[in-house]
Amino acid sequence: MNKSSKISGFYKLKPKERLALVKDFAGLTEEECDLIQNTGSLSLEVADHMIENVVGAFSLPLGIAVNFLINNRDYMIPMTIEEPSVVAAASYAAKMVRDSGGFYTTSTPPVMIGQIQVVDIEDPEKARQCVLEAKQEILEKANSQDPVLSSVGGGAKELEAKIISTTVGPMLIVELHVDCRDAMGANAVNSMAESVAPIIERVSGGRVYLRIISNLATKRLAKAWCTVAKEKIGGEEVVNGIINASAFAAADPYRAATHNKGAMNGIIAVVLATGNDHRAIEAGAHAYAAIEGQYTSLSTWEKTDEGDLKGTIELPMAVGLIGGAVRTHPIAKIALKILGVKTANEFAEVLAAVGLAQNLAALRALAHEGIQHGHMSLHARNIAIAAGAGERIADLVAERMVKERKIRMDRAKELIKELSA
Ligand code: MEV
Repeated sequence: MNKSSKISGFYKLKPKERLALVKDFAGLTEEECDLIQNTGSLSLEVADHMIENVVGAFSLPLGIAVNFLINNRDYMIPMTIEEPSVVAAASYAAKMVRDSGGFYTTSTPPVMIGQIQVVDIEDPEKARQCVLEAKQEILEKANSQDPVLSSVGGGAKELEAKIISTTVGPMLIVELHVDCRDAMGANAVNSMAESVAPIIERVSGGRVYLRIISNLATKRLAKAWCTVAKEKIGGEEVVNGIINASAFAAADPYRAATHNKGAMNGIIAVVLATGNDHRAIEAGAHAYAAIEGQYTSLSTWEKTDEGDLKGTIELPMAVGLIGGAVRTHPIAKIALKILGVKTANEFAEVLAAVGLAQNLAALRALAHEGIQHGHMSLHARNIAIAAGAGERIADLVAERMVKERKIRMDRAKELIKELSA
């Protein structure tokens, strides 16, 4: 008989009790349960307060990308990621950029947009005008939700209203612009959007449904650029290859998605290490890449008059230094300490630089020796370890497999036997 996953009150149980039910459902062994509950630095108690229905924790590697010189300041970059090569590639690109002067960055103030959806309005344009006339009252109400944010110079600063046509008729969309300072801001913006809804209903005569932050954070952009001397990148041919790769991504959404994925490899790894909301960053980045109507690349690479390579990236970057997992996850706090950023703006700019570095490393490899070359040795090492190679011989086994072009578990096992004999 099929076991049922319909369990009432599952959320009320303790993690151990929940796991006992899962164990029974999925046929887990004692060892598997022990691994799940062996939560490491994130205690089961903290984990249980972070999300619902917790049974344990899931660890990922934390690596440090080095060589980053951004606005003439050195940074060590904590990265949490499961993919081999990313940390090495970021460090490698940062070294090339560093030898040519480093990254430079800029960012807009940390302003997020909160959207309030108004429907059932007879005269949308008149309703829009009425909402705009009530701007002061709406902003004051919004700011009364978060006096702390206002006291540090943030808060709701501006109000806009637009009419959109939809499949169910015209809608009035009111947008609050909230300076979130060092917070990512979702909580503050959502509370503000909810609090002003009654005023908006009153003055517009319509009905409010959704009141929520937009992840397309076009008012919270971070930009990074760098120039890499042609001799540092491998010569004119490599520069040309990267420029062609950039033009390919700019013109073709199928390539742009992968090009941007390369940049996001770096950005998301840092966002994750610091306990920030990586889904928000990912959503914002890809929506921004399509903002002109066709999905395109977030970065561009061009040749300077001297024949060197100049790259630029710009994307929304809604990250914070306070609130949520940033404060509760013990490793996130330490990751931020390693990063050493003082404001959310500085953090956003560092992330843009990391994205540009990661993108450069990928394009250089693709335009030069191909991506598999670098990937393979790390992949081979992983296979060697999975096949049971200890620290002492893992590198040797990996090297042999790469040389033989036989990166397989069975070959790894043979080599372990041979090398351990
Ligand atoms: C792999 O994780 C990322 C790349 O595919 C990025 C790119 O193609 O530019 C190598």
